[in-house]
Amino acid sequence: MSLKEALKLADRIVFEKTGQHLDDLQAAVLKGTLERETYKHIAKDFDCSESSVRKVGAELWEILSEELGEDVSKSNLSSAIERLQVSLFSSNVAQDSVQIRNINYCGEARHPPEQRNSHPPNQETSNSKQSKTLHQDLSEMPELGNFFDRTHELQTLTTWILQQNCRLITLTGISGIGKTSLAVQLVQQIKHEFEYAVWCTLDEFPTIDKFQSNLIQLFSQSENPDSSPTNQKRLPLIKYLQNHRCLVVLDDVHNLFCSGEFAGKYKPEYEEYRSLFKQIEKLSHQSCFLLIGWEPPKEVPQLTSENTPIRTLQLTGLDTAAARKILRDKGLTEIDNCETLIHRYQGNPLWLKSVATLIQELGIGVADLLIDDTILLPEDLKDVLDEQFDRTSELEKQVLSLLAKENQPVNLAKLLQNGQISSSDLLNALQSLSRRCLIEKQGSLYTLSPVLKQYIKGL
Ligand SMILES: Nc1ncnc2c1ncn2[C@@H]1O[C@H](COP(=O)(O)OP(=O)(O)O)[C@@H](O)[C@H]1O
Ligand SMILES: [Mg+2]
Repeated sequence: MSLKEALKLADRIVFEKTGQHLDDLQAAVLKGTLERETYKHIAKDFDCSESSVRKVGAELWEILSEELGEDVSKSNLSSAIERLQVSLFSSNVAQDSVQIRNINYCGEARHPPEQRNSHPPNQETSNSKQSKTLHQDLSEMPELGNFFDRTHELQTLTTWILQQNCRLITLTGISGIGKTSLAVQLVQQIKHEFEYAVWCTLDEFPTIDKFQSNLIQLFSQSENPDSSPTNQKRLPLIKYLQNHRCLVVLDDVHNLFCSGEFAGKYKPEYEEYRSLFKQIEKLSHQSCFLLIGWEPPKEVPQLTSENTPIRTLQLTGLDTAAARKILRDKGLTEIDNCETLIHRYQGNPLWLKSVATLIQELGIGVADLLIDDTILLPEDLKDVLDEQFDRTSELEKQVLSLLAKENQPVNLAKLLQNGQISSSDLLNALQSLSRRCLIEKQGSLYTLSPVLKQYIKGL
């Protein structure tokens, strides 16, 4: 936490308590204390007596102690403010943060109404005393229909973002598995923990310059756009991510990557996004980027450790109870063999909806479909799979067709025996397919889901 942020936070607490902002001497005492200066030194700098500094200090520690619910003194001011920031940003289920939340963290009192009303209509400015979100641009965020379960995934993402302060998170999974819906639900739950919340769904990504300037335009609404020269290597956007706590969701990031290559290889015109994502991961700031798509950027590891600010979540299907609700929503109630149907379509909500529609339109029973191992592939489901299959490289297509011929999960040796692919090509293809969530790994064995097997056999 920077000195400026700590002072801003202290000012808000004092304002909440006394109705007055910090005066110059109070600010000097806080600044000096945070910089570990003695009272004597602060007094000398401010050209006043040491006793005045001590008196002002004592009053401040008293106000802060009351508001923070712990003894604050010159020796623990810095850590007390850090703790306050953590609790403000941590999960809103924390009991003790409720009281702290009453602090007018948004600083609404400082923004004259005309300034608040000056945002474009699609950018909401929160008036809520309990909320820290000043600006939202969620106009591109889809509306959420009925949403079931995902409790565990929501908890994981919330912990990564609010408690572990992760800076870059990728959310991947096969089409229709529910990535966008999950992210919408997440944003709705945690957006108030941020000063800015932005959602970008981009079929065509803008150039990096355009992308940055769009965000900077939004982030600089409450301050003058920064024209100071920036470090040549640091992208201008980073400064805003450091000064403000921003949540930025980028949906359909696979549009940044090439078709016909291994997963996550940037198209030449989008190469610069690589350094943006790298800086978001590596440089210190208080914001979070959530990247959603069929494939993650190539350089993002799929397994990450708790010590890094980067995380990956590969989304799998809904559990049986939630998937049942999807079928029920589609009008399939009281059906036999519900679990088998859900299992066959791997709890993928979009696939289940597609099959449910077909069943209803044809007026057939689920039991008729499940007589043998035949997997029904409605046309819209095929279209969705086409899109993802078409993106794979030739090597991946070869591996997929090898796997489609196997009745059981197979190991590397078996795959090498069956194909004319070198071992390194095979490993790269398997890694890429696994990043795209097109194959399943069971220990050292690989297999395809029944739906994909059926789809590939039918090509
Ligand atoms: N948890 C859920 N509960 C209910 N419906 C869901 C859920 N997750 C996804 N869906 C539905 O499944 C379909 C695909 O979801 P979506 O989020 O668009 O998938 P993805 O972004 O992974 O392609 C949508 O119609 C969505 O409403
Ligand atoms: Mg989506």
